Amino acid sequence: MAPLSLPISMQDVTKRYRTGRGVEHVDLEVGSGEVFAFLGPNGAGKTTTIRILLDLIRPDSGSVRLFGKELRSHSVDLRRRIGYLPGELSLYEDLTARELLTHFAHLRAGPDWSVIEMLTEAFGLEVDRAIKALSKGNRQKVGLVQAMMGDPELLILDEPTSGLDPLVQTQVHRLIRAAAAEGRTVFLSSHVLSEVGQVADRVGIIRDGAIVAVKGVADLRKQAVHYVDVRFTGDVAPAELVRQPEATRLPSEEGTVRLAVRGSLDPLLAVLAAHPVDDLTIRGPDLEDLFLSYLTNDDQMTAEAVEHGTG
Ligand SMILES: Nc1ncnc2c1ncn2[C@@H]1O[C@H](COP(=O)(O)OP(=O)(O)O)[C@@H](O)[C@H]1O
Ligand SMILES: [Mg+2]
Repeated sequence: MAPLSLPISMQDVTKRYRTGRGVEHVDLEVGSGEVFAFLGPNGAGKTTTIRILLDLIRPDSGSVRLFGKELRSHSVDLRRRIGYLPGELSLYEDLTARELLTHFAHLRAGPDWSVIEMLTEAFGLEVDRAIKALSKGNRQKVGLVQAMMGDPELLILDEPTSGLDPLVQTQVHRLIRAAAAEGRTVFLSSHVLSEVGQVADRVGIIRDGAIVAVKGVADLRKQAVHYVDVRFTGDVAPAELVRQPEATRLPSEEGTVRLAVRGSLDPLLAVLAAHPVDDLTIRGPDLEDLFLSYLTNDDQMTAEAVEHGTG
């Protein structure tokens, strides 16, 4: 893919508010069909970055290109290609969901009701109740349907699952993956460690207004640590297991060998296959520990992951 046509490309973008820091020196590239999660604690700069991407606020310096086009000079055209879910959603309270979504559809010379219906049914959204009578989760669903209904090439979702119960979160994750499978690009923000590994292809970690790491989830999984508990029918010298460079023995109950294994499990499984195994448990890899280590201490991710997982 030509880098110039990337759905999102930000270079050295800085935005300072009068009262202080927004984001600093943000470099970011998101490829076509990718689900990119922007992970960081509250106040890290996620919403600021997203508002810059929509040209709702202008950065002090740096360059922003969407689909290879300079954002500022193509703002109106580009906006048509984007579905956006704002972080703080405000909706017309007196309308029903049906009226509101129809209104949005007209604004954009947008989809007919059958498209909207498909989405509202996928979300299990009751469309004939007034917005003001809807729960936070259902309001969020209205926002998501609004973002997704215009057949956008790029979805920008600011904390799409906040306030949703776990079942609905899973539905939203599924719709995001389905959108990516159709070739759409998704940029979402989250402060929830556990969800980004489930939904994203790549994760950018932002802290205090700066991006501290950008990682592929599949790569992280490959480097991450599994915890293996194994009990043998007869005696096996644990030395034979621990001799592998990637395995570390951890304290465990009498009769059980507990190992932390980084990377592929294949070599360990090959050793195990040669012995009578009574019981085997494998946990992980624990991506949350990896993400957490980036949010606390930049270069300690592997050591942290091992320490956190032993308890
Ligand atoms: N309109 C604003 N005026 C002044 N400061 C702001 C404004 N919006 C955000 N900030 C500050 O910029 C930083 C990043 O905020 P934000 O982008 O909203 O973070 P996030 O979305 O990751 O929670 C925070 O320190 C926040 O207080
Ligand atoms: Mg925010």
